[in-house]
Amino acid sequence: MNYQWYPGHMTKAKRMMQENIGLIDLVIELVDARIPFSSRNPDIDELGKNKARLILLNKSDLADPKANQIWMDYFKNKGFHVLEINAKTGQGLKAIQGMVKEACREKIERDRKRGIKNRPVRAIVVGIPNVGKSTFINSFAGKACTKTGNKPGVTKGKQWIRLNKELELLDTPGILWPKFESEEVGRNLAFIGSMNDEILQMTELAMDLTEYLLQHYQTQLFTRYQVEDEGQSRTPALMLEHICENRKCYKKGQEPDYEKAASVLVDDFRSGRIGRITLEMPGDIAPE
Ligand code: G4P
Repeated sequence: MNYQWYPGHMTKAKRMMQENIGLIDLVIELVDARIPFSSRNPDIDELGKNKARLILLNKSDLADPKANQIWMDYFKNKGFHVLEINAKTGQGLKAIQGMVKEACREKIERDRKRGIKNRPVRAIVVGIPNVGKSTFINSFAGKACTKTGNKPGVTKGKQWIRLNKELELLDTPGILWPKFESEEVGRNLAFIGSMNDEILQMTELAMDLTEYLLQHYQTQLFTRYQVEDEGQSRTPALMLEHICENRKCYKKGQEPDYEKAASVLVDDFRSGRIGRITLEMPGDIAPE
C-alpha cells in the first residue's frame, strides 16, 4: 500500500518533539483503543526516556470494553501509567490529575527535597494524527484554563496551558508518525481511517475488515446487517453481497455496487455503528 506520510513530515515532527522534550516532565501519549499497538510509535520510548509516562487509551467508547481492560493491564505490566478515556465526552478525564501525581511522584519529591515549592509538572500531549490530541487538550483544559505567555506584549514562545497550580500543558501536541512496519499495522491504520482513503482500495479494505469481524465479532456484524444466523459459514465476499442487498447498493440496471457497500461497512465500523470493536490484542504482537 501507499501511505500519505513522507520523510519531510516525519523529520519535522521529530525535530519539534526533540526541541520540546527537554522542557517537560511528563509525556501524555494518546493511543487509539481499537489499535493500541498499531497506533503507537515506539520512537517515543527513546524520545521520552527518563520522563514520567502516561498512556491514554482514547476512543475507548469505540473499542471492546473487555479488550480495553486487557490493554490497560498490558501497559501497566510494561511499567506505564495508563487510563482509558473518551476525549470527546470527557469520560475518564477526572482520574488524570491523580494519575499525573502518581507518575511524577519522583520529580515532586526531588523538588521538595531541594526546597523548590509549587513548580508545576509540565506535560506534552503526543500521538499519531487523528488520535484525538486536540479534542483531548480542549476537553481536558476546558474553558477555565489560562494560557500563559498569551497576553499582548508577552514574547511569543512556548504556550503553556495552566490547568491548575500543579499542572501545565504545552498547547501544541507532539505529532508521532505511524510506523507502518508491517502489512498488518498499515491495514489497522487504514481500517480506523488514519490514512488517506483516496489511495486505498475500499473493496479490498472492506473484505479484510469483514474477515476479521466474521472471526471475532460475527454477532454484531450479523445484527447490523440483518443476516439470519443459520450456522452457515459466510465468506467476506458473500457478506459484501449481502450488504449490497441490505443497504440497496446498486448501480444502474440492478448491478451490485460493491464499492458503495464497502464504504457503508467501513463507515459503520469507524463510527461504532457495528458495535464496540477492537482490532488487535496484546497476543497478536510479535515478541520484541
Ligand atoms: P488529532 O488532534 O490527534 O489529529 O485528533 P482530533 O482531536 O482532531 O480528533 C480526530 C477525530 O477523532 C475527531 O473527529 C474527534 O471528534 C474524534 N475523537 C477524538 N476523541 C474521541 C473519542 O474519545 N471518541 C470518539 N468517538 N471520537 C473521538 P472528526 O470526525 O474529525 O470530527 P467530529 O465529527 O467529531 O467533529
